[in-house]
Amino acid sequence: MTHDAAGRSDAMPLPPTPDYDVWPVEVDIVRLDVTPHQLEVEWADGRKSRYHSVWLRENAADDSTVNPATRERILDLSRLGAWPTLEAAQLEANGAVTLDFAPEGRRLAFHPGWLRAHDYSHLEALPAVLPPRVHWLGSERDAPTTLDASGWMAQASDPQAEDPLLSQALDAVLREGLVRLRNLPVEPGSLDAIARRIGPPRPTNFGHLFDVRAKPDPDSNAYTSIALAPHVDLPTREYQPGVQMLHCLENDTVGGEAIMMDGFAVAETLRARHPEHFETLTRVRWCYANTARTSDHVWFAPMIGLDGEGELDEVRIADFLRGPLLAPFEDVEPAYAALMAVQRLLAEPQFALRFGYAPGDLVIFDNRRLLHARDAFDAGTGGSRWLQGCYLERDELRSRLRMLKRAERRGRLA
Ligand code: OGA
Ligand code: ZN
Repeated sequence: MTHDAAGRSDAMPLPPTPDYDVWPVEVDIVRLDVTPHQLEVEWADGRKSRYHSVWLRENAADDSTVNPATRERILDLSRLGAWPTLEAAQLEANGAVTLDFAPEGRRLAFHPGWLRAHDYSHLEALPAVLPPRVHWLGSERDAPTTLDASGWMAQASDPQAEDPLLSQALDAVLREGLVRLRNLPVEPGSLDAIARRIGPPRPTNFGHLFDVRAKPDPDSNAYTSIALAPHVDLPTREYQPGVQMLHCLENDTVGGEAIMMDGFAVAETLRARHPEHFETLTRVRWCYANTARTSDHVWFAPMIGLDGEGELDEVRIADFLRGPLLAPFEDVEPAYAALMAVQRLLAEPQFALRFGYAPGDLVIFDNRRLLHARDAFDAGTGGSRWLQGCYLERDELRSRLRMLKRAERRGRLA
Protein backbone atom coordinates (compact mmCIF):
# COMPACT_ATOMS: atom_id res chain seq x y z
CA MET A 1 0.00 0.00 0.00
CA THR A 2 1.33 3.41 -0.93
CA HIS A 3 0.66 6.75 0.72
CA ASP A 4 0.72 10.15 -0.85
CA ALA A 5 2.10 13.30 0.72
CA ALA A 6 -0.91 13.78 3.00
CA GLY A 7 -0.79 10.19 4.24
CA ARG A 8 -3.94 9.00 2.51
CA SER A 9 -3.89 5.38 1.48
CA ASP A 10 -4.67 3.99 -1.92
CA ALA A 11 -7.68 2.22 -0.41
CA MET A 12 -9.58 5.38 -1.42
CA PRO A 13 -8.21 6.15 -4.85
CA LEU A 14 -8.41 9.71 -6.04
CA PRO A 15 -10.34 10.39 -9.25
CA PRO A 16 -8.60 10.07 -12.60
CA THR A 17 -7.12 13.11 -14.30
CA PRO A 18 -7.53 13.91 -18.01
CA ASP A 19 -3.91 12.95 -18.74
CA TYR A 20 -1.29 10.32 -17.90
CA ASP A 21 0.57 12.52 -15.46
CA VAL A 22 1.15 12.28 -11.71
CA TRP A 23 -0.20 15.04 -9.46
CA PRO A 24 0.98 14.75 -5.87
CA VAL A 25 -1.41 16.29 -3.34
CA GLU A 26 0.88 18.70 -1.55
CA VAL A 27 -1.82 20.91 -0.03
CA ASP A 28 -5.28 19.76 1.05
CA ILE A 29 -8.55 21.46 0.28
CA VAL A 30 -10.34 22.71 3.40
CA ARG A 31 -13.47 24.34 1.98
CA LEU A 32 -15.51 24.68 -1.20
CA ASP A 33 -17.82 27.50 -2.18
CA VAL A 34 -19.97 27.18 -5.26
CA THR A 35 -22.09 29.48 -7.43
CA PRO A 36 -23.60 28.44 -10.80
CA HIS A 37 -20.64 29.83 -12.73
CA GLN A 38 -17.73 29.45 -10.32
CA LEU A 39 -16.13 27.14 -7.82
CA GLU A 40 -13.93 28.62 -5.11
CA VAL A 41 -11.49 26.23 -3.46
CA GLU A 42 -9.84 27.16 -0.18
CA TRP A 43 -6.61 25.31 0.52
CA ALA A 44 -4.94 24.50 3.84
CA ASP A 45 -2.26 27.12 3.16
CA GLY A 46 -4.91 29.85 2.83
CA ARG A 47 -4.87 30.16 -0.96
CA LYS A 48 -8.25 30.62 -2.59
CA SER A 49 -8.46 29.37 -6.16
CA ARG A 50 -11.33 30.07 -8.53
CA TYR A 51 -12.42 27.97 -11.49
CA HIS A 52 -15.18 28.63 -13.99
CA SER A 53 -17.93 26.02 -14.39
CA VAL A 54 -17.30 25.85 -18.15
CA TRP A 55 -13.60 25.25 -17.62
CA LEU A 56 -14.27 22.53 -15.04
CA ARG A 57 -16.79 20.81 -17.30
CA GLU A 58 -14.36 20.74 -20.19
CA ASN A 59 -11.56 19.40 -18.02
CA ALA A 60 -13.44 16.55 -16.38
CA ALA A 61 -11.83 13.14 -16.75
CA ASP A 62 -14.84 10.84 -17.05
CA ASP A 63 -15.65 8.72 -20.10
CA SER A 64 -18.14 11.26 -21.50
CA THR A 65 -15.37 13.88 -21.66
CA VAL A 66 -12.20 11.95 -22.36
CA ASN A 67 -11.73 8.80 -24.39
CA PRO A 68 -10.27 6.43 -21.76
CA ALA A 69 -8.24 4.67 -24.45
CA THR A 70 -6.32 7.78 -25.49
CA ARG A 71 -7.13 10.38 -22.83
CA GLU A 72 -7.93 12.82 -25.60
CA ARG A 73 -11.08 14.89 -25.34
CA ILE A 74 -14.29 13.65 -26.97
CA LEU A 75 -16.62 16.24 -25.41
CA ASP A 76 -17.99 19.02 -27.62
CA LEU A 77 -19.01 21.77 -25.19
CA SER A 78 -21.36 23.36 -27.72
CA ARG A 79 -23.54 20.22 -27.65
CA LEU A 80 -24.38 20.29 -23.94
CA GLY A 81 -27.66 22.09 -24.58
CA ALA A 82 -26.83 25.04 -22.35
CA TRP A 83 -23.83 26.68 -20.70
CA PRO A 84 -22.55 24.23 -18.09
CA THR A 85 -23.27 25.42 -14.55
CA LEU A 86 -22.68 24.07 -11.08
CA GLU A 87 -25.50 22.92 -8.83
CA ALA A 88 -23.53 21.54 -5.90
CA ALA A 89 -19.99 20.85 -4.72
CA GLN A 90 -18.81 18.24 -2.23
CA LEU A 91 -15.42 17.76 -0.59
CA GLU A 92 -14.91 14.00 -0.27
CA ALA A 93 -13.14 12.20 2.59
CA ASN A 94 -10.20 11.35 0.31
CA GLY A 95 -9.73 15.02 -0.61
CA ALA A 96 -11.42 14.85 -4.04
CA VAL A 97 -14.01 17.34 -5.23
CA THR A 98 -17.30 16.16 -6.70
CA LEU A 99 -19.40 18.60 -8.66
CA ASP A 100 -22.97 18.36 -9.94
CA PHE A 101 -23.32 19.93 -13.39
CA ALA A 102 -26.45 21.27 -15.09
CA PRO A 103 -27.97 20.92 -17.65
CA GLU A 104 -26.67 17.37 -17.89
CA GLY A 105 -27.38 16.37 -14.32
CA ARG A 106 -23.92 14.79 -14.31
CA ARG A 107 -21.76 14.31 -11.21
CA LEU A 108 -18.03 14.59 -11.94
CA ALA A 109 -15.02 14.11 -9.68
CA PHE A 110 -11.83 16.17 -9.68
CA HIS A 111 -8.37 15.35 -8.36
CA PRO A 112 -7.13 17.94 -5.83
CA GLY A 113 -3.48 17.72 -6.95
CA TRP A 114 -4.50 18.29 -10.55
CA LEU A 115 -6.75 21.23 -9.57
CA ARG A 116 -3.94 22.86 -7.62
CA ALA A 117 -1.46 22.36 -10.49
CA HIS A 118 -3.90 24.01 -12.92
CA ASP A 119 -4.92 26.97 -10.76
CA TYR A 120 -5.23 29.58 -13.47
CA SER A 121 -6.49 32.15 -10.96
CA HIS A 122 -2.87 32.18 -9.67
CA LEU A 123 -0.90 31.79 -12.88
CA GLU A 124 2.07 33.58 -11.33
CA ALA A 125 2.26 30.92 -8.58
CA LEU A 126 2.21 27.90 -10.89
CA PRO A 127 5.59 26.17 -10.82
CA ALA A 128 7.30 26.12 -14.21
CA VAL A 129 7.42 22.55 -15.48
CA LEU A 130 10.38 23.29 -17.74
CA PRO A 131 13.43 25.33 -16.74
CA PRO A 132 13.70 29.01 -17.70
CA ARG A 133 16.32 30.23 -20.16
CA VAL A 134 19.42 31.81 -18.69
CA HIS A 135 21.58 33.84 -21.06
CA TRP A 136 25.35 33.47 -20.72
CA LEU A 137 28.64 34.86 -21.90
CA GLY A 138 31.47 32.56 -22.92
CA SER A 139 33.89 34.72 -20.94
CA GLU A 140 32.08 33.68 -17.74
CA ARG A 141 32.69 29.98 -18.20
CA ASP A 142 35.53 27.55 -18.85
CA ALA A 143 33.50 24.90 -20.66
CA PRO A 144 29.95 23.94 -21.50
CA THR A 145 27.95 22.21 -18.78
CA THR A 146 29.51 18.75 -19.04
CA LEU A 147 28.22 15.35 -17.94
CA ASP A 148 30.05 12.03 -17.85
CA ALA A 149 28.02 9.55 -19.91
CA SER A 150 30.32 6.52 -19.36
CA GLY A 151 28.18 3.37 -19.45
CA TRP A 152 24.98 5.29 -20.13
CA MET A 153 24.31 3.76 -23.55
CA ALA A 154 24.87 0.28 -22.08
CA GLN A 155 21.96 0.83 -19.70
CA ALA A 156 18.48 -0.05 -20.92
CA SER A 157 16.37 2.91 -21.91
CA ASP A 158 12.71 3.09 -20.93
CA PRO A 159 10.76 6.21 -21.92
CA GLN A 160 8.64 5.93 -18.77
CA ALA A 161 11.54 5.52 -16.33
CA GLU A 162 13.77 8.00 -14.58
CA ASP A 163 17.11 8.83 -16.22
CA PRO A 164 19.03 11.36 -14.11
CA LEU A 165 21.75 11.90 -16.71
CA LEU A 166 19.30 12.66 -19.50
CA SER A 167 17.22 14.81 -17.20
CA GLN A 168 20.26 16.94 -16.31
CA ALA A 169 21.34 17.12 -19.93
CA LEU A 170 17.96 18.28 -21.23
CA ASP A 171 17.60 20.72 -18.37
CA ALA A 172 20.90 22.31 -19.41
CA VAL A 173 19.86 22.53 -23.07
CA LEU A 174 16.62 24.29 -22.18
CA ARG A 175 18.31 26.57 -19.65
CA GLU A 176 21.62 27.36 -21.35
CA GLY A 177 21.03 26.12 -24.88
CA LEU A 178 23.99 23.74 -24.69
CA VAL A 179 25.28 20.63 -22.95
CA ARG A 180 28.27 18.36 -23.51
CA LEU A 181 28.25 14.64 -22.75
CA ARG A 182 31.57 12.83 -22.65
CA ASN A 183 32.71 9.20 -22.92
CA LEU A 184 30.00 8.00 -25.25
CA PRO A 185 30.60 5.17 -27.73
CA VAL A 186 32.51 6.10 -30.88
CA GLU A 187 30.99 3.59 -33.29
CA PRO A 188 29.88 5.34 -36.49
CA GLY A 189 26.09 5.62 -36.48
CA SER A 190 25.75 5.31 -32.71
CA LEU A 191 24.37 8.84 -32.67
CA ASP A 192 21.06 7.49 -33.98
CA ALA A 193 20.41 5.46 -30.83
CA ILE A 194 21.68 8.31 -28.64
CA ALA A 195 19.34 10.80 -30.33
CA ARG A 196 16.39 8.41 -30.06
CA ARG A 197 16.75 8.51 -26.28
CA ILE A 198 15.34 12.02 -26.75
CA GLY A 199 13.21 11.66 -29.88
CA PRO A 200 13.24 10.91 -33.58
CA PRO A 201 15.90 12.73 -35.60
CA ARG A 202 14.70 15.08 -38.33
CA PRO A 203 16.01 14.07 -41.72
CA THR A 204 17.24 16.68 -44.19
CA ASN A 205 18.90 16.68 -47.58
CA PHE A 206 22.17 16.09 -45.67
CA GLY A 207 20.84 12.73 -44.41
CA HIS A 208 19.24 11.71 -41.16
CA LEU A 209 22.72 11.56 -39.69
CA PHE A 210 25.28 13.73 -41.43
CA ASP A 211 29.03 13.31 -41.54
CA VAL A 212 31.06 16.41 -40.80
CA ARG A 213 34.50 15.85 -42.24
CA ALA A 214 36.51 17.13 -45.13
CA LYS A 215 35.04 15.47 -48.21
CA PRO A 216 36.21 15.46 -51.84
CA ASP A 217 32.99 16.90 -53.28
CA PRO A 218 31.52 18.97 -50.45
CA ASP A 219 27.92 20.26 -50.56
CA SER A 220 28.49 22.50 -47.53
CA ASN A 221 31.35 24.58 -46.15
CA ALA A 222 31.00 22.40 -43.05
CA TYR A 223 32.31 19.45 -45.08
CA THR A 224 35.64 21.12 -45.76
CA SER A 225 38.45 22.01 -43.38
CA ILE A 226 37.95 25.78 -43.53
CA ALA A 227 36.92 27.87 -40.53
CA LEU A 228 33.18 28.36 -40.07
CA ALA A 229 31.88 31.68 -38.80
CA PRO A 230 29.28 31.61 -35.98
CA HIS A 231 26.04 30.29 -37.43
CA VAL A 232 22.89 28.31 -36.95
CA ASP A 233 22.21 25.41 -39.29
CA LEU A 234 19.38 25.36 -41.83
CA PRO A 235 17.98 28.88 -41.48
CA THR A 236 17.09 28.08 -45.09
CA ARG A 237 14.01 26.20 -43.81
CA GLU A 238 10.64 27.67 -42.92
CA TYR A 239 11.04 25.90 -39.61
CA GLN A 240 14.71 25.63 -38.74
CA PRO A 241 15.60 22.59 -36.65
CA GLY A 242 15.37 23.37 -32.95
CA VAL A 243 18.12 21.07 -31.75
CA GLN A 244 21.41 19.92 -33.17
CA MET A 245 23.65 17.13 -31.93
CA LEU A 246 27.31 16.81 -32.94
CA HIS A 247 29.08 13.61 -31.94
CA CYS A 248 32.84 13.35 -32.21
CA LEU A 249 34.06 9.99 -33.53
CA GLU A 250 37.63 10.89 -34.41
CA ASN A 251 39.80 13.92 -33.84
CA ASP A 252 43.53 13.95 -34.05
CA THR A 253 44.00 16.94 -36.31
CA VAL A 254 45.52 20.27 -35.54
CA GLY A 255 42.91 23.02 -35.11
CA GLY A 256 39.17 22.49 -35.50
CA GLU A 257 38.24 23.77 -32.03
CA ALA A 258 34.58 24.50 -31.47
CA ILE A 259 33.42 28.00 -30.69
CA MET A 260 29.90 28.39 -29.37
CA MET A 261 28.00 31.41 -28.18
CA ASP A 262 24.58 32.26 -26.86
CA GLY A 263 22.85 33.96 -29.78
CA PHE A 264 20.21 35.29 -27.41
CA ALA A 265 22.89 37.03 -25.32
CA VAL A 266 24.17 38.57 -28.57
CA ALA A 267 20.65 39.66 -29.54
CA GLU A 268 19.96 41.15 -26.10
CA THR A 269 23.23 43.07 -26.27
CA LEU A 270 22.21 44.41 -29.64
CA ARG A 271 18.78 45.38 -28.25
CA ALA A 272 20.45 47.25 -25.36
CA ARG A 273 23.13 49.00 -27.41
CA HIS A 274 21.38 49.58 -30.72
CA PRO A 275 17.62 49.31 -30.35
CA GLU A 276 17.09 50.60 -33.87
CA HIS A 277 19.24 47.82 -35.35
CA PHE A 278 17.47 45.27 -33.20
CA GLU A 279 14.11 46.49 -34.48
CA THR A 280 15.31 46.31 -38.08
CA LEU A 281 16.45 42.71 -37.64
CA THR A 282 13.12 41.65 -36.15
CA ARG A 283 11.33 43.13 -39.17
CA VAL A 284 13.29 42.91 -42.42
CA ARG A 285 13.27 39.48 -44.02
CA TRP A 286 16.61 38.22 -45.26
CA CYS A 287 17.00 35.56 -47.86
CA TYR A 288 18.45 32.28 -46.58
CA ALA A 289 19.52 29.94 -49.32
CA ASN A 290 21.22 26.59 -49.67
CA THR A 291 21.42 25.93 -53.34
CA ALA A 292 23.08 22.62 -54.04
CA ARG A 293 23.30 20.49 -57.14
CA THR A 294 20.28 18.39 -56.21
CA SER A 295 18.27 20.60 -53.85
CA ASP A 296 17.32 24.25 -53.65
CA HIS A 297 16.22 25.46 -50.24
CA VAL A 298 15.28 29.12 -49.91
CA TRP A 299 13.40 30.92 -47.15
CA PHE A 300 12.84 34.57 -46.25
CA ALA A 301 12.72 35.47 -42.55
CA PRO A 302 13.87 38.13 -40.09
CA MET A 303 17.25 37.52 -38.46
CA ILE A 304 15.75 37.81 -34.97
CA GLY A 305 12.44 36.09 -34.29
CA LEU A 306 10.30 37.13 -31.32
CA ASP A 307 7.40 35.24 -29.81
CA GLY A 308 3.97 36.74 -29.10
CA GLU A 309 5.27 38.23 -25.87
CA GLY A 310 8.26 39.95 -27.45
CA GLU A 311 10.67 37.36 -26.02
CA LEU A 312 13.44 35.97 -28.19
CA ASP A 313 12.36 32.85 -30.01
CA GLU A 314 15.08 32.32 -32.61
CA VAL A 315 18.05 33.83 -34.35
CA ARG A 316 18.94 33.15 -37.97
CA ILE A 317 22.55 34.18 -38.10
CA ALA A 318 24.53 32.36 -40.80
CA ASP A 319 26.44 34.51 -43.22
CA PHE A 320 27.33 31.70 -45.59
CA LEU A 321 23.69 30.67 -45.90
CA ARG A 322 22.33 34.04 -46.90
CA GLY A 323 21.18 34.69 -50.45
CA PRO A 324 20.64 38.07 -52.07
CA LEU A 325 18.60 40.44 -49.91
CA LEU A 326 15.31 41.19 -51.66
CA ALA A 327 13.78 43.74 -49.32
CA PRO A 328 11.88 47.02 -49.83
CA PHE A 329 14.35 49.55 -51.24
CA GLU A 330 14.36 51.81 -48.18
CA ASP A 331 15.09 48.85 -45.86
CA VAL A 332 18.29 47.78 -47.58
CA GLU A 333 20.80 50.19 -46.03
CA PRO A 334 19.33 49.94 -42.50
CA ALA A 335 19.36 46.16 -42.87
CA TYR A 336 23.04 46.07 -43.81
CA ALA A 337 23.91 48.53 -41.04
CA ALA A 338 22.15 46.24 -38.54
CA LEU A 339 23.84 43.15 -40.01
CA MET A 340 27.26 44.73 -39.59
CA ALA A 341 26.43 45.69 -36.01
CA VAL A 342 25.71 42.00 -35.34
CA GLN A 343 28.89 40.91 -37.08
CA ARG A 344 30.92 43.31 -34.93
CA LEU A 345 29.24 41.86 -31.82
CA LEU A 346 30.06 38.31 -32.91
CA ALA A 347 33.73 39.29 -33.03
CA GLU A 348 33.70 40.53 -29.42
CA PRO A 349 35.50 37.91 -27.32
CA GLN A 350 33.04 38.03 -24.41
CA PHE A 351 30.46 35.87 -26.18
CA ALA A 352 32.60 32.96 -27.35
CA LEU A 353 33.08 29.71 -25.48
CA ARG A 354 35.91 27.72 -27.02
CA PHE A 355 36.56 24.02 -26.49
CA GLY A 356 38.02 21.00 -28.27
CA TYR A 357 36.30 17.77 -29.25
CA ALA A 358 37.56 14.43 -28.01
CA PRO A 359 36.25 11.15 -29.46
CA GLY A 360 33.13 10.20 -27.50
CA ASP A 361 32.08 13.81 -26.92
CA LEU A 362 28.58 14.87 -27.87
CA VAL A 363 27.23 18.39 -27.82
CA ILE A 364 23.49 18.96 -27.84
CA PHE A 365 22.44 22.52 -28.50
CA ASP A 366 19.47 24.68 -29.35
CA ASN A 367 20.05 25.38 -33.02
CA ARG A 368 17.62 28.31 -33.04
CA ARG A 369 19.49 30.00 -30.17
CA LEU A 370 23.15 28.95 -30.02
CA LEU A 371 25.64 29.94 -32.66
CA HIS A 372 28.35 27.44 -33.43
CA ALA A 373 31.61 28.00 -35.24
CA ARG A 374 34.87 26.16 -35.71
CA ASP A 375 38.47 26.95 -36.40
CA ALA A 376 40.05 25.73 -39.60
CA PHE A 377 41.80 22.41 -39.23
CA ASP A 378 44.63 20.65 -40.95
CA ALA A 379 43.14 18.03 -43.25
CA GLY A 380 46.30 17.12 -45.05
CA THR A 381 48.68 15.51 -42.56
CA GLY A 382 47.17 12.10 -42.02
CA GLY A 383 45.11 13.11 -38.99
CA SER A 384 41.35 12.97 -39.14
CA ARG A 385 38.44 14.91 -37.74
CA TRP A 386 35.04 13.25 -37.98
CA LEU A 387 31.84 14.39 -36.36
CA GLN A 388 28.43 12.92 -36.98
CA GLY A 389 25.45 15.17 -36.54
CA CYS A 390 21.69 15.13 -36.53
CA TYR A 391 18.77 17.43 -35.91
CA LEU A 392 15.76 17.13 -33.66
CA GLU A 393 12.98 19.51 -32.75
CA ARG A 394 12.66 21.46 -29.51
CA ASP A 395 9.29 19.71 -29.08
CA GLU A 396 11.00 16.33 -28.72
CA LEU A 397 13.32 17.65 -26.07
CA ARG A 398 10.51 19.30 -24.09
CA SER A 399 8.33 16.20 -24.31
CA ARG A 400 11.20 14.01 -23.14
CA LEU A 401 12.00 16.26 -20.20
CA ARG A 402 8.32 16.38 -19.17
CA MET A 403 8.29 12.56 -19.26
CA LEU A 404 11.43 12.43 -17.13
CA LYS A 405 9.90 14.83 -14.61
CA ARG A 406 6.73 12.75 -14.56
CA ALA A 407 8.81 9.66 -13.78
CA GLU A 408 10.66 11.57 -11.05
CA ARG A 409 7.34 12.64 -9.43
CA ARG A 410 6.08 9.06 -9.62
CA GLY A 411 9.33 7.91 -8.03
CA ARG A 412 8.89 10.35 -5.14
CA LEU A 413 5.34 9.07 -4.50
CA ALA A 414 6.29 5.39 -4.52
C1 OGA B 1 28.15 21.90 -39.18
C2 OGA B 1 29.16 22.56 -38.35
C3 OGA B 1 30.97 22.37 -36.85
C4 OGA B 1 32.28 21.67 -36.70
O1 OGA B 1 28.36 20.74 -39.55
O2 OGA B 1 27.11 22.52 -39.44
O3 OGA B 1 28.97 23.69 -38.06
O4 OGA B 1 32.84 21.78 -35.61
N1 OGA B 1 30.19 21.85 -37.89
O5 OGA B 1 32.73 21.02 -37.63
ZN1 ZN C 1 26.84 24.17 -38.48
